Amino acid sequence: MDYKNKNILAPMVRCSTLAFRLMALEYGADLVYSEEIIDYKLVNAKRHYNELFNTIDYIVDGTEKPVFQTCHKEKDKVIFQVGTNNATRALQACKLVENDVAGFDVNMGCPKEFSVQGGMGAALLKKPDDVKQILTTLVNGLSKPVTCKIRCLHSLEETINLCKLIESCGVRALAIHGRFQEERSRMPNHDDYIREIVKHIQIPIIANGGSNEIKCYEDIEKFRQSCNASSVMIARAGMWNCSVFRREGVLPIDDVVKRFLEISLEVDNYFFSVKYAVQQMLHEELASERGAAVLGSLAGEELYKIFHMLNEYNELQKKKEEYYRSSALKRKI
Ligand code: FNR
Repeated sequence: MDYKNKNILAPMVRCSTLAFRLMALEYGADLVYSEEIIDYKLVNAKRHYNELFNTIDYIVDGTEKPVFQTCHKEKDKVIFQVGTNNATRALQACKLVENDVAGFDVNMGCPKEFSVQGGMGAALLKKPDDVKQILTTLVNGLSKPVTCKIRCLHSLEETINLCKLIESCGVRALAIHGRFQEERSRMPNHDDYIREIVKHIQIPIIANGGSNEIKCYEDIEKFRQSCNASSVMIARAGMWNCSVFRREGVLPIDDVVKRFLEISLEVDNYFFSVKYAVQQMLHEELASERGAAVLGSLAGEELYKIFHMLNEYNELQKKKEEYYRSSALKRKI
């Protein structure tokens, strides 16, 4: 697998779940990154094959919600993103899922306090020794390609030096979100930084940060050209309307929500993940009556009713009841 000429669904906590990733692939994404999964949350999980949904669920004993969920359909397209501050533990976590995914990515861009204070995410941008240790450990220890995702440092020169260091660790591609750690997403993306980095780095550069201008498939290519990058990674534009990946054109948001609700039933997506993603898709109409109903929904039954899919929801509940009665897997019915 290479990372050239790819349109990629970005890692997004709570959003880039299995159901969302399958939808993005269906609409035309070439690769899909999982939401960031912190290494220590995964290391105690066990792999379960769920026969009812044909999913692979990594679950910690005594809990219900899988830490990571995948399936054979996405096996060659899904990149597992790990959050870490420790090379040994990162490798241990990645090893667990190695046979179920196409590649691995290390999150070196998350600016959230939880990540940075824990020495993860954007904290790594200033810790070249840790970057080197984590990436070389993963590259040497895993049989699948490793990438990493960074933000820009204020100085272009320092950013290029960081990228060179990352490249020297043997990673196969590098995703760059063209903003500084403290910059919010509504601010302009530094496409010019990415363009400059491309000149100094041989591995494919995956440009990220362009969602404010991405409304349809053609805009993805415009962003790629603006950064002169090999590939493009899309987060918010995909979250708002995942059909931006469609060459044939964007679909009405109701069609996208319904398709997402269907796939969520097919893979038994968790209610709170389903609700979160639907909220994001309806972001422009959350003040409407329907938006308020979505926000106020407390269970799948209420949410599916809003979109006239209660029959489909109830049918699945029946199947689940039967299955979980006889299965060793614990899961809320
Ligand atoms: C993110 N982002 C993010 N990045 C990452 O490396 N791992 C993650 O788990 C997340 N989680 C996440 C959740 C949500 C809801 C959003 C909106 C964003 C950052 C994301 O991948 C991307 O870098 C930025 O959103 C900029 O790209 P766009 O939105 O302009 O395409």
